[in-house]
Amino acid sequence: MKAIAAFGGVPCSAPGAFALVELPDPLPGPHDLLVRVEAWAVNPVDTKVRSGLPGPGAGAPPRLLGWDAAGVVEAIGDAVVRFVPGDRVWFAGDISRPGCNAERVLVEEAICGHRPANLSAADAAALPLTGLTAWEALFERLGLDPEGADAGRSLLILGGAGGVGSIAIQLARRAGLMVIATASRPESRAWCERMGASHVVDHRQPLAPQLAALGLPEVDSIANFSDTDAYWQAMAELIRPQGAIVAIVANRSPLDLNLLKAKSVSFHWEFMFTRPQFRTADRGRQGEILERLAELVQAGEIQSTALTRLTPITPTNLATAHGLLESGCAIGKIVLEGWESGAGTAV
Ligand SMILES: NC(=O)c1ccc[n+]([C@@H]2O[C@H](COP(=O)([O-])OP(=O)(O)OC[C@H]3O[C@@H](n4cnc5c(N)ncnc54)[C@H](OP(=O)(O)O)[C@@H]3O)[C@@H](O)[C@H]2O)c1
Repeated sequence: MKAIAAFGGVPCSAPGAFALVELPDPLPGPHDLLVRVEAWAVNPVDTKVRSGLPGPGAGAPPRLLGWDAAGVVEAIGDAVVRFVPGDRVWFAGDISRPGCNAERVLVEEAICGHRPANLSAADAAALPLTGLTAWEALFERLGLDPEGADAGRSLLILGGAGGVGSIAIQLARRAGLMVIATASRPESRAWCERMGASHVVDHRQPLAPQLAALGLPEVDSIANFSDTDAYWQAMAELIRPQGAIVAIVANRSPLDLNLLKAKSVSFHWEFMFTRPQFRTADRGRQGEILERLAELVQAGEIQSTALTRLTPITPTNLATAHGLLESGCAIGKIVLEGWESGAGTAV
């Protein structure tokens, strides 16, 4: 099969950062699906993993990035029960296994879902990783009710126009929450409004006065999809007593947990790969979330967040996608689809 191998040590735009290679098709284990990948989305985790890889020419085996895909099941392991060959699926996958930047990839059935029938492969590929992250952050870590029991409560989303923010805004609005999203540019502000934000404030300006001007000096919950260190103090000030905060980006410096003590605020981490990586007993929950997301998309309640579509799948287009993400200015999701004819380089 063709695949795009990634190398570190050079900028993503350097000629050797990505290479089209030819690899053997992977063989499914008992609980695996072998999926023919039609489209994939690029995520910051790809750029973070690439930054730690050996450079081109170091002689290291090819590493495949990409944990966000839509495709078709080609073969199944002996113990698979929920899928048959020909099923159209979507999944984020497991960071401890090879990624989906290839014609074929393996995924454990428990963490895979049937994708919505009304979306193209590219539009579907935009949603699994960020959808799982947002769902787990809002409805499992913060404990908000996805079906409206917490309607009217306020939620501040830091980083509203990014991949995670875009789907989180939609899920939160559907749950009836009052969503205050942050964005710093006219185009990212407009995107947050399109995703359903009730209000948009500018994260390049002090947040407290902007929230006070909205009549919201405190919020019930905060979802930080950007920089945990940078917003720690502000989050401690803006959260209401007994409120809850979730963050998805590792802190660089120690955090002063005491800032949350007087208000008895709870703080939660969300890491989408926890369930697959540690093979938790409840990892099948990710398959269930993906099935539910597909229902919501098919019902027209949630829309794809794909905004930038790059085709065909080439090292050059993958480098372009990485560059866009590394700029920190991505809006919605960047997806790649469609393989060029011709073979990769055998390795
Ligand atoms: N823990 C997990 O499971 C998990 C899962 C997914 C992602 N993540 C991490 O979460 C982060 C966000 O992921 P993503 O996919 O949403 O990224 P993304 O799509 O690259 O986010 C881009 C957005 O970030 C916004 N932004 C830039 N600087 C900001 C700031 N100082 N404050 C608030 N927003 C800012 C930008 O908005 P403006 O242009 O308006 O400034 C832009 O729209 C990444 O670090 C990623 O690695 C973690």
